[in-house]
Amino acid sequence: MTSYKTIGILGAIPQEVNGIISQLKDKTEQKIGNRTYYEGYINNQKVVVVYSRIGKVAAAATVATLILEFKVDSIAFIGVAGGIHPNVKVGDVVVASNLVQYDMDASPLRPKFEIPLLGKTYFDTDEQWSKETLNHIELMFGLENLHQLISANELAKFNITTPNVHFGTIASGDQFFSTSEQKNNLQAQLPEVLCVEMEGAAVAQVCYEFDIPFIVIRTISDNANEEASFSFQSFVEEVSLVYGQEIIDKMF
Ligand code: ADE
Repeated sequence: MTSYKTIGILGAIPQEVNGIISQLKDKTEQKIGNRTYYEGYINNQKVVVVYSRIGKVAAAATVATLILEFKVDSIAFIGVAGGIHPNVKVGDVVVASNLVQYDMDASPLRPKFEIPLLGKTYFDTDEQWSKETLNHIELMFGLENLHQLISANELAKFNITTPNVHFGTIASGDQFFSTSEQKNNLQAQLPEVLCVEMEGAAVAQVCYEFDIPFIVIRTISDNANEEASFSFQSFVEEVSLVYGQEIIDKMF
């Protein structure tokens, strides 16, 4: 089991982290730069939990604060994403192997998607920690376990029957995907991408530059197409909180 002294846990929106904040023992809070950071313990692991707000800039600023002010030695990002790859369905979970910023384009100076001066396009997550997390989520998805956590009615509403966990590439950028055109365009350019969201690759870049191990875990809330905004909103209200709470509780 990977062990760290203090883990920074982030989500983008309150619904992604409220379940985790409610589990904290010996909770204290501190406000810095328009964010509230909650310090405490989950199963004896020291953590700092915060919601970053949406987008790459918000996430990067929050991660830098966690590293510099709270001295976290590792970062876990948890939240929801839109499914891109045809094998990825609503209710599945994607654990990132690496992340890419699909909206970075300094061509013709540098190849499309490459971060100028770093000379990197893909940022790798911590492999051992990611694989341990994959195993925990597989256990959690044992069908009976899932039905104990979320009612059959709720699962049926999102057509979730037997959800899967995936390990692969996540793409991030400052756009909410709500058209098939956006989805097809990303798929054509980066066919290996499993899902799309708005923070993970920014977290990845900052962690890479500070040499901090990190993982990114995303539950699929929608199919990144015309129905995305409806599915996203009801999923974050009804399902993702339970997933997030359970994934983090089982991690320590
Ligand atoms: N996060 C969850 N769903 C998303 C979508 N469709 N586009 C971008 N980020 C998302």
